[in-house]
Amino acid sequence: MLVKVFGSAVYGVDALTITIEVDTVPGSGYFIVGLPDSAVKESVDRILSAYKNNGYKSPRYKMVINMAPADIKKAGSAYDLPIAIGMLSATEQLASDRLTDYIIMGELQLDGTLRPVKGALPMAIQARKEGYKGLILPQQNAREAAMVNNLAVYGVTHLREVIALLEGDDSIKPTVVDTRAEFANAQSQFDIDFEEVKGQENIKRALEIAAAGGHNAILIGPPGAGKTMLAKRLPTILPPITLQESLETTKIHSVAGKLPDHASLIAHRPFRSPHHTISDAGLIGGGGNPQPGEISLAHNGVLFLDELPEFKRTVLEVMRQPMEERQVTIARAKVSIDYPASFMLIASMNPCPCGYYNHPEKECSCAPQMVQKYLNKVSGPLLDRIDLHVEVTPVSFHELSEYRAAESSAVIRERVIQARAIQTKRYEQQEGIYNNALMTSKLIQEHCALDTVSAHLLKAAMKKLNLSARAYDRILKVSRTIADLEASPQIKAEHIAEAIQYRSLDREGWAG
Ligand SMILES: Nc1ncnc2c1ncn2[C@@H]1O[C@H](COP(=O)(O)OP(=O)(O)OP(=O)(O)O)[C@@H](O)[C@H]1O
Ligand SMILES: [Mg+2]
Ligand SMILES: [Zn+2]
Repeated sequence: MLVKVFGSAVYGVDALTITIEVDTVPGSGYFIVGLPDSAVKESVDRILSAYKNNGYKSPRYKMVINMAPADIKKAGSAYDLPIAIGMLSATEQLASDRLTDYIIMGELQLDGTLRPVKGALPMAIQARKEGYKGLILPQQNAREAAMVNNLAVYGVTHLREVIALLEGDDSIKPTVVDTRAEFANAQSQFDIDFEEVKGQENIKRALEIAAAGGHNAILIGPPGAGKTMLAKRLPTILPPITLQESLETTKIHSVAGKLPDHASLIAHRPFRSPHHTISDAGLIGGGGNPQPGEISLAHNGVLFLDELPEFKRTVLEVMRQPMEERQVTIARAKVSIDYPASFMLIASMNPCPCGYYNHPEKECSCAPQMVQKYLNKVSGPLLDRIDLHVEVTPVSFHELSEYRAAESSAVIRERVIQARAIQTKRYEQQEGIYNNALMTSKLIQEHCALDTVSAHLLKAAMKKLNLSARAYDRILKVSRTIADLEASPQIKAEHIAEAIQYRSLDREGWAG
């Protein structure tokens, strides 16, 4: 008997409905057609084992399973459940009248237990868009999918439970998530705070500027100076993530299978800190069955590249275009997939291979050429996109042991929010531009006009420090943000003077 079941395929950060037709014809064997990958082809073995272990009969006919549309690749083991249901129904072990009300997805274990799937959130969005009554999927994914309203999401643990549900057992209830309430609850809670960082007022100031203008920054300092500790706290002073942004970010984590079991939405700006051994595909996304990379998992949050010079140069080069476009395009023979990738980059590095170049107490043991070679590793395309260079020196033992109340993240964040509000208004007519870091040359001209004193100061500094032309625009952007933090419409000489300090890597003479 011919039956139809509906499943879902993830494509980029969206899903599309897959129709699975199952039919019995004379003969024996199993044929899956419609571009299944090897994991899908192997599903029959898992399904037959799950049948056996739960008292269902293996078909005595030849089974033909057709997955449509045929031009979309069906990948992974998440089609086990819809195929298993389809085969039971085609062999008349399960009534077929309710099947088409649902999108059904899940991977089967041999005993019939279900394992979670990737992309439950986009699947739910699509199911609701197309007017399905419900979505049946593993319980671990239920809360993630249930963020979508007006769709009955059934989180199930076992093949038998799915069959009971399809036979009309109404003791199985849909999962309900109050998205707005959960979002509001989780949003303002952080378990780290700038308050815990002693001293380092100037570094905190630099990070406040970075947060206020959306500027990329690099922290340069010796081992143990607190670079990692400081960078990790950046999300605590960024403007709170909006519900819209949260859904975008959650969708990417859902597709990548990175949401914890039973999680609903990501209510914080993400902080991603990939190890320097990461591959190109791991960082920007890709692979045979394309997956979002770290730059997309950091969407609407922070990407932290700790020990930047340790990353392979090619890895850093592939980030160039996505950073420009704030999204990444993965091109394949027939298709191309876009993943959003709008993030703030924070990098860290030692000033030289031994770590103690310019250190107040310790001696650097590196030859000048070694220092230069080390710096050259990070120069070029990526450094070009970093507005703030921040030198971090360790706080003294005395300062570390002393108790002095420091400003909390909440207080700093309030100033950041004010400065962002000015920018939102300033760029309201500009498509895709919402902070100072995103200013084009034309916008810099328009919004960073200098008075004679400031212009003079900048010119003199450029000459004295032998700053490059690229440093010029960066200084103007950063000084715009510094002025915004003071709600000053005009950029003043003091703003320029402070911005100039954040160009240490451009200065001629670093490394002798
Ligand atoms: N200003 C500070 N206030 C409080 N604790 C600090 C401070 N600076 C450093 N520490 C302590 O020192 C530890 C080391 O700091 P951290 O790992 O951030 O240094 P780092 O600059 O990233 O070093 P590395 O180059 O070795 O990675 C921190 O976990 C923290 O406990
Ligand atoms: Mg560190
Ligand atoms: Zn050194």
